[in-house]
Amino acid sequence: MLSYRHGYHAGNYADVLKHSMLLQTLQLLHKKNKPLAYIDTHAGAGGYALSDAFAQKTGEYLEGVAKLWQRSDLPPALQQYVDDIKHFNQDSNDLDLYPGSPAFVDMNLRDKDRMVLHELHSSDHLTLAEQFAGDRQIKVLKTDGLKGLIAAVPPIERRGVILIDPSYEIKSDYLEVAKTVIKAHKRFATGIYMIWYPVVDRAQTEAMFDLLKQSGIKKQLRIEQAIRADSPEYGMTAAGLWVINPPWQLDEIATETLNYLHPILNKGDGHIRVEWEVGE
Ligand SMILES: C[S@@+](CC[C@H](N)C(=O)[O-])C[C@H]1O[C@@H](n2cnc3c(N)ncnc32)[C@H](O)[C@@H]1O
Repeated sequence: MLSYRHGYHAGNYADVLKHSMLLQTLQLLHKKNKPLAYIDTHAGAGGYALSDAFAQKTGEYLEGVAKLWQRSDLPPALQQYVDDIKHFNQDSNDLDLYPGSPAFVDMNLRDKDRMVLHELHSSDHLTLAEQFAGDRQIKVLKTDGLKGLIAAVPPIERRGVILIDPSYEIKSDYLEVAKTVIKAHKRFATGIYMIWYPVVDRAQTEAMFDLLKQSGIKKQLRIEQAIRADSPEYGMTAAGLWVINPPWQLDEIATETLNYLHPILNKGDGHIRVEWEVGE
């Protein structure tokens, strides 16, 4: 039984970092004129109305995307992020709709690229499948994303971005993600693996990374934004992306982006980290 719905969290501070870094990764890869596959293991509904009951109940987007919407001094990564959201809103200045990861990628997909999306929740899967119905570049699957990842690699293009964005509802999800990435990396060592993670219980999150760090896999980059210090009191105090094989310069772009975001989104005692946890 899946209880997590991304509609409650769409556009929050974690989405800002996740989606802006995903867009930058695609931009850096598009510098080469070669096709790529995008694999989303936990795709969500593909788009969210911020006026609906889910988003209004938590108001999380007000502490995320809404804080950037009217600003005129955004660094390039956040400018592209906001521009794409405006485009998703039919170029309106009203922030009504928020794109999910599949919609962000769709806006940046070239004719030669392709997407494989996994979503298990019945209604989110239906919304997603309707959004991309008839699009031959996009496959929407109602299957487990971690099993789907193993089945999808290596992609025929031999170039791929993989977003792994589970809801971590079950404690074992953390280690499951690490084990799956290690297995997928054996089949597709040059893939770019972007693992989204929350910090609710720091020890749990780091146990997943310890497995990855000990795996022998090279080039592992942590990009993290904490809006508070680690604490059992507040739920999710930080979120980030753990990126294996990040494209050249993503670390610099992440630093510039987080330096800008931190004073705007920090609740007082947070931190930012862009660190190579495993080098070349
Ligand atoms: C954090 S949300 C995804 C958000 C989306 N990637 C985005 O950035 O817009 C996680 C999604 O995973 C789905 N899900 C949970 N377990 C799954 C599984 N085993 N396989 C595929 N999807 C799953 C949930 O229903 C939920 O929609």
